[in-house]
Amino acid sequence: MSYLRNRFQKEANRMAQDYVASIPFDQRLYRQDVEGSIAHAKMLAKQGIITNSEAEAIIAGLNSICEEIEQGKFQFKSELEDIHMNIEARLFEKIGNVAGKLHTARSRNDQIALDLRLFVKEEILKTIDALEALQCSLVNLAETNKEVIMPGYTHLQQAQPVLVAHHLLAYFEMLQRDKKRFYNCLNCTDVLPLGSGALAGVPYPVDREFVAQELGFTKVSANSLDAVSDRDFIIEYEAAAALTMMHLSRLAEEIILWSSIEFGFIELGEAYTTGSSIMPQKKNPDVAELARGKTGRVYGNLMAILTTMKSLPLTYNRDMQEDKEGLFDTVDTLHSSLEIFAEMIKTIKVNAKRIRDVIKKDYILATDIADYLVKKGLPFREAHGIVAKLSEYAIKEGKSFHELSLREYKNFSPLFSEDVYGISFESSIAARDVIGGTSPQQVEAALQKSKGDSLLRSE
Ligand code: ARG
Repeated sequence: MSYLRNRFQKEANRMAQDYVASIPFDQRLYRQDVEGSIAHAKMLAKQGIITNSEAEAIIAGLNSICEEIEQGKFQFKSELEDIHMNIEARLFEKIGNVAGKLHTARSRNDQIALDLRLFVKEEILKTIDALEALQCSLVNLAETNKEVIMPGYTHLQQAQPVLVAHHLLAYFEMLQRDKKRFYNCLNCTDVLPLGSGALAGVPYPVDREFVAQELGFTKVSANSLDAVSDRDFIIEYEAAAALTMMHLSRLAEEIILWSSIEFGFIELGEAYTTGSSIMPQKKNPDVAELARGKTGRVYGNLMAILTTMKSLPLTYNRDMQEDKEGLFDTVDTLHSSLEIFAEMIKTIKVNAKRIRDVIKKDYILATDIADYLVKKGLPFREAHGIVAKLSEYAIKEGKSFHELSLREYKNFSPLFSEDVYGISFESSIAARDVIGGTSPQQVEAALQKSKGDSLLRSE
């Protein structure tokens, strides 16, 4: 009987141990953990809290642990809960009791806050790089198809002619805003929490400014309670990532539509499509579809961390251990999506002829015909009414605007004369010569500016 109870007790212990352990996922923070501990040990020695030789032993031990981990020789143990305890336990094995001095003036609460901030700072820089690589691909595709005119859409209905380059540069602008958001996030992540201890600060003469400098932080947290319980920087990263994924999903959607037989505007490189197992004619745009799909997961991670943090009393609560998996997943999803898009877009072939065919019936010039009447003196609303009727007539007759005779035009307004035939896709886009418009000069200027703005890498 007592043997059985013992066994159950052991089972229960193991279950609880596995339940609270974060080591299966927080081992990803080993490098930041070691880096933070080295800076901390240096500071402790500088302040005379430990001796120089103790710090040296600790630092050498930490460096060799880091190597062990990188060579896959380190044995992570779930009974040691997390990355901090796993590394510390190994440090004891390596250098003996002096290892116990490393945790002076520190708590796992400020330690994990530090590790996460170091991690997020690094990832933000990688994110910005990946955004720029994608911008570079977009600009190159715009440049190669600078002359191609396509129908611009509203409500997914052909609306007015625009340059393909103008359309692509719209995405450049979205990514430009994304970059700004990540830079803002970098600024709010760039705060050293170490020195806050468990929650109230530490009773040792530590030098926080020194640690900040060692680790590349420009600011030191102002309130210890806030510092150990703040995960805003993770939420901000995930929010910025959600927005970027939203942008990618819109681009994905257009790639999916444009590569369909119905549109046929573009062709994607083989590597980014897969064939159907039963329908041999198909080339499915799986990569774009998956990016569109993964956007949902990234939104989910944002909702999860917001929900975890909601109503938590100050300061650290174990709930906060749940901040990591979603963050890692978002970082990985965002980076792989940005990277694959940058490559996929390099393979896009624009089918200019097909795009031209799609707008053969030139109804997208309706606004230009209304503007033509405005220039001849009609108020815009009136001109709009006339062209609405004219369009209805042309569509009913199965004729494009260019196929209508002057007599037919004049039935709708006496203001029409021979020069109405001068209205073309080219004249339409050339007329939109305002800052941010689709005229070739404006788009050329935008292209040049984009190249300067994004610090595009030369490949
Ligand atoms: N594994 C913990 C986390 O990720 C580290 C901090 C633990 N602190 C504590 N007081 N148990 O949040």
